[in-house]
Amino acid sequence: MEVITTAQPPAEVQDADTSPYSLPMVEPIVTIRPGNPDFLDLPWGTTLTEWDLSHRVHLPKGISRHEVQFYQYPEGLFVVKELPTRAARNDYEILRRLESRAVSTVTPVGLVVQRNDDPGSEASAALITAWEEFTFSYRELIAGTGFAGNRTKMLDAFAELLVELHLVGCFWGDCSLSNVLYRWDAGTIETVMVDAETSSLRDDGHMSDGRRLEDIEIMKVNVAGGMADIAAAADRDIDEADLFLGDEIAEVYQRLWDELKSDELVPADEQYRVHDRIRRVNQLGFDVDEVDVVPVDGGSRLQLRLRVGGRTFHRNRLRDLTGIDALENQARQILSDLYHFQTGEDIRTPTLKNVSAIKWRVGRFEPVMERIREIPDIADPIQAFCDLLHHRYVISSAVGRDVETMEALDDWLAAGRPGYPEEWSPPEV
Ligand SMILES: Nc1ncnc2c1ncn2[C@@H]1O[C@H](COP(=O)(O)OP(=O)(O)OP(=O)(O)O)[C@@H](O)[C@H]1O
Ligand SMILES: [Mg+2]
Repeated sequence: MEVITTAQPPAEVQDADTSPYSLPMVEPIVTIRPGNPDFLDLPWGTTLTEWDLSHRVHLPKGISRHEVQFYQYPEGLFVVKELPTRAARNDYEILRRLESRAVSTVTPVGLVVQRNDDPGSEASAALITAWEEFTFSYRELIAGTGFAGNRTKMLDAFAELLVELHLVGCFWGDCSLSNVLYRWDAGTIETVMVDAETSSLRDDGHMSDGRRLEDIEIMKVNVAGGMADIAAAADRDIDEADLFLGDEIAEVYQRLWDELKSDELVPADEQYRVHDRIRRVNQLGFDVDEVDVVPVDGGSRLQLRLRVGGRTFHRNRLRDLTGIDALENQARQILSDLYHFQTGEDIRTPTLKNVSAIKWRVGRFEPVMERIREIPDIADPIQAFCDLLHHRYVISSAVGRDVETMEALDDWLAAGRPGYPEEWSPPEV
C-alpha cells in the first residue's frame, strides 16, 4: 500500500496564480510507501539545486547525470534523485518489482511527479530511495590502493548481479560501475543495483540470449568508460587504464550462467546426480525453485533443467535456523560456525537441529556480538563477526588447536581488527 498526497504550494503562490488565463496550476503528487516520512517538508515545487535545507547530508557518490542529494530523517537516511517523469516512474516501478523478486537493489521509498507542468523536464519528478547501509561507490573501491587484491572479488560480485537480474528476466540497459553500489560481505564484495531508469522486466521472467548479450555489451562499454575516467582523474595515461575489466566480468558472467542454466543429461539410474547439481548451485549461493527431470533417449537418460531462484540460499537458511539477518556470504560463513558447533550436538531430528541452532545463537553468537557492539567505531557488527571467525581460523591453524571465539576476539582486537574494512566508516549524520 502507498500513501498518495498532494503537496500544497505555499500560500503566496496560490494567491498569485488565480488569473483565468494562466496555465492550470500543477501540484506535486507525492506517493510514499508506508513506514517512511511523508517528505512533505521538501519544497517539491523548486529544483533540488535551489534547496538549502539543514537536514541535507553530504556523502560520496558515483557519477550521475541527475541531481542526487541525501537527507536525514528520524526514520533514516534517504536519497532524492531529480529526473524527468517517465524515467522516474520506470526507475520506481522496476525497483519495486525487483524487490519482490529478491534481487539486490536499493529500496524504492517514494515517487514525486507533477512538480511542474512539463513532464519531460529534468525537475518534473523525483525518486526517493533508502540510503543503502554500509555501501560505497566504485570510486572508493577502485581508486584506493587496495584494489589489486579486491579485483577478482569485484568481478565476481558484478557478474553475479547481472546473472541475478537476467535470471528474473530483467534487461538493465545501463549497467555501469556507478550504477552499482559495493559492500563488504564477509571476505567478499556484494553488489547492489542502484539505477533502473532504463530497465525493463518481463513478467514471465524470460530473457532471450540476444537480449542478454546486448546487456553485456552495454556493460563492457560502460565499464571501460568508467575505468578510463578513473585513470584520467588520477592523471594517468589511457593505456594504463584497466580497460578490460568489463571483458573479464563478461567471462565470469558466462561461466556462472552456464553452470546455472545449462541442461544436464544423466543416466536414468544415477538420479542422485539431481541432488549433486542442486548442491552445486546452492554452493554458488543460488536457491533452486524447481527441477524438471525429463526422460530422454527412450528413458535411458534424464535431462535435468533447473529453475534457479535468487542468490539468497545461505541467507534464507541462516534466517530460518537462527533468525539472524546477514548478507549472502556473511550467512555462509556464520552457518559454517553453526555447523561446526552442531558436530558436537545431538541433531538427529529436525526439532533437535532447531534446538541446537537456538543454543548456538544464545550461547555462542549473542555473547560475542554483545562485546562487538560495545566496541567503538564498529558500525557493522555482523561483518566484524565474520572477520573475527576468519581470524579464529587463522590463529587456530597456527597453534594447531581450536581457539575459543572469545579468546580469538581478544587477539583480533589486539591485532588491530584484521579484515574489518579500515577505510570504511559510517557517514557523520
Ligand atoms: N539508495 C542509495 N543509497 C546509496 N547511494 C545511492 C543511492 N541512490 C543513489 N546513490 C548514489 O548516487 C549515485 C547516483 O545515483 P543514480 O545512478 O541513481 O543517478 P543517475 O543520475 O540516474 O545516474 P546515471 O548517470 O547513470 O543515469 C550512485 O552512483 C550512488 O553512489
Ligand atoms: Mg546512475
